[in-house]
Amino acid sequence: MSFGLQPIANAFVEPSQVKNEYFYELKPAFCQECGTFQIMEQPSPELMFHDQYAFFTRTSRRMVQHFNEYANWVKTHYLTETDPFVVEIGCNDGAMLENFSKSTIRHLGIEPSANTAAEASKYGVDTINTFFNEATANQVVNKYGQADVVLAANVICHIPDLHSIAESLNILLKDNGVFIFEEPYLGNMIENTSYDQLYDEHVYIFSLKSVSSWFESFNMEIIDALPQDTHGGSMRYVIARSGTRSISSRIFELSRRESELKLDNINTFLEFSVACERSRHDLVTLVRELRSKGKRIVGYGATSKSTTVLNYCGLGPDDIEFISDTTPIKQGKLTPGSHIPVRPYPEFQANYPDYTVLFAWNHKAEIFRKEGIYRSAGGKWITFIPSVSVISGSE
Ligand code: TYD
Repeated sequence: MSFGLQPIANAFVEPSQVKNEYFYELKPAFCQECGTFQIMEQPSPELMFHDQYAFFTRTSRRMVQHFNEYANWVKTHYLTETDPFVVEIGCNDGAMLENFSKSTIRHLGIEPSANTAAEASKYGVDTINTFFNEATANQVVNKYGQADVVLAANVICHIPDLHSIAESLNILLKDNGVFIFEEPYLGNMIENTSYDQLYDEHVYIFSLKSVSSWFESFNMEIIDALPQDTHGGSMRYVIARSGTRSISSRIFELSRRESELKLDNINTFLEFSVACERSRHDLVTLVRELRSKGKRIVGYGATSKSTTVLNYCGLGPDDIEFISDTTPIKQGKLTPGSHIPVRPYPEFQANYPDYTVLFAWNHKAEIFRKEGIYRSAGGKWITFIPSVSVISGSE
């Protein structure tokens, strides 16, 4: 299966730089034996995570609240020893670790993008600006000791070398320590045809089956898993050294659900591929029909996910006038590959379009709550998850 040539999802371009874009083929594949679903080609990490990285967690209030709840849950369930030490892989702007730093819990964020790491420091979060690997794990242990808990959110699927992650965790974690991470979940992607979860940073879309077969060979196991509604449907996995902790009954229930969804069968992915083509056809047809009637269409949220949608569907500035986004570093630039201008949010409010494509569909509830006036003014939303449709914004 192929989504064609794609640029780096977060590489928003200056209008003068459009000739220098980097493209790779977005080509996912599935292994029936270990249940791993992954993309086959990925740009080098240095091209994706650097001092101009465009994603900041704090652009979503809901996500900040989510990380507060995530941190409280970790404190209650896993920080039971005295003077615990918490490490987060890919701490971004510190939205999660801030909750530990405020409670004066020893913590450290490992963050490869210098600009987001600097933002985390502003919130009192201790960070080191580097990639997570065996060398970093050794360096942290030598300086601070081993960790009680290692956390990650929407980060582990960015790292191609899963073996290196497991080896690094082996170094970093105490014998009874836990590794807790959450990532977009394969079950939700299949159910919702949310193919936009696939882009350069998302090498893997995990399932319980793929996560257990990954850790099995490192003598670690899943001891708990909790579905999350963030990022369009995610799963939180708790990993411990095999035999050190009891296994939650939730695992059995969720594994049964994976069997029902046939996440271990290649046919599921062949059907997914057909569903993606249908989604593309429906979205392009709808947008072009509306444009032929002279309707104005803009986008909401210049997400990484939208890069896959726009380039796969071949939509550009003639179809979508601009995309409104609250992230300063994206504003004034063009969307990668599709070259739609990204504009500050007030421009959306100043002149409401007839239709708005909800690219940040994972923040639907937060956005619809905020956009009551647009709805009252007769503005309509176009969504493509789980299928292409026009909605009023009250749902
Ligand atoms: P998000 O969907 O979290 O991530 P990804 O890039 O992983 O696909 O990104 C949300 C984007 O939408 C981010 O650029 C900020 C923007 N945004 C708004 O412009 N307004 C909003 O109200 C919200 C919630 C997000």
